[in-house]
Amino acid sequence: MNLIKSKKALSAEIVNIDLSKDLKVDQINFIQKAWDENLVLTFKNQKLNDPQLLKFSKYFGNLDLPAPNPYGINFSPEYPEINVISNVKEKGKPIGILGDGEATWHADMTYNEIPPKGAILYSLEVPKNQGDTHFSNMIAAYEDMPERLIKKIDGKILIHDASHNSAGQLRKGYKENADPSLTPGAKHPIIFKDPTTQKKSLFLGRRPHAYIVGMTIDESESLLNELWLHATQEKYTFTHRWQNNEVLMWKNLFVLHKRDSFDPNTRRVMHRTQISGDIRIS
Ligand SMILES: [Fe+2]
Repeated sequence: MNLIKSKKALSAEIVNIDLSKDLKVDQINFIQKAWDENLVLTFKNQKLNDPQLLKFSKYFGNLDLPAPNPYGINFSPEYPEINVISNVKEKGKPIGILGDGEATWHADMTYNEIPPKGAILYSLEVPKNQGDTHFSNMIAAYEDMPERLIKKIDGKILIHDASHNSAGQLRKGYKENADPSLTPGAKHPIIFKDPTTQKKSLFLGRRPHAYIVGMTIDESESLLNELWLHATQEKYTFTHRWQNNEVLMWKNLFVLHKRDSFDPNTRRVMHRTQISGDIRIS
């Protein structure tokens, strides 16, 4: 097994390993260390069925069940910890979530008090040269932040919206709400300090419906715009162009991610697992 670091601000590829096989402790430790250091890991040419994807995922922690989706459907009843990310419809019914549209920058489920530690995507079928996934390194963005901006956010608390998914769709059981100060969701410090490594990172969650506690709406909107502009600069990012049969895993607390839209007449099918968090942030 070898590690090939990307030349970008985050991510590495691991080669010469078959993830469908049982992994040895030293292999798991190698991957865990590489993941901690590079935040995003990719593995090409993997042939995994659902039980193998679950087994691989569980090396890195307990798994969460998928968040409620707008359709109220469990897309993988046999393996409920697997979520299906797809635009494909069979007999007029979606086989997964998020459709073919763009998903804007976000981290997953940060509207929970204990957000997930990471997530793993496995590409079963993807269209060529579209639907790229982008990642932005929030440790690098914090470390590189102008002092005047750090002063503005030091000690500040942000509301992370629970009511919409990353495609902007309203989740089941929530209502639209025009006032961001009333957004439902966890309240987290904008600067997150990892209790293990003591490293600080920007912890932004998602931009729409966010609100910085104690500010006027205008102040909050303007500071959030400034923060998001800083956090998503190209110099902190890595773009993944998908092929079939790839595994990609990311550290959810330290990166933002987004997805490009793709041609609705193509098929994109991914299976996803999510590693439970173990840090109560707020
Ligand atoms: Fe996401």
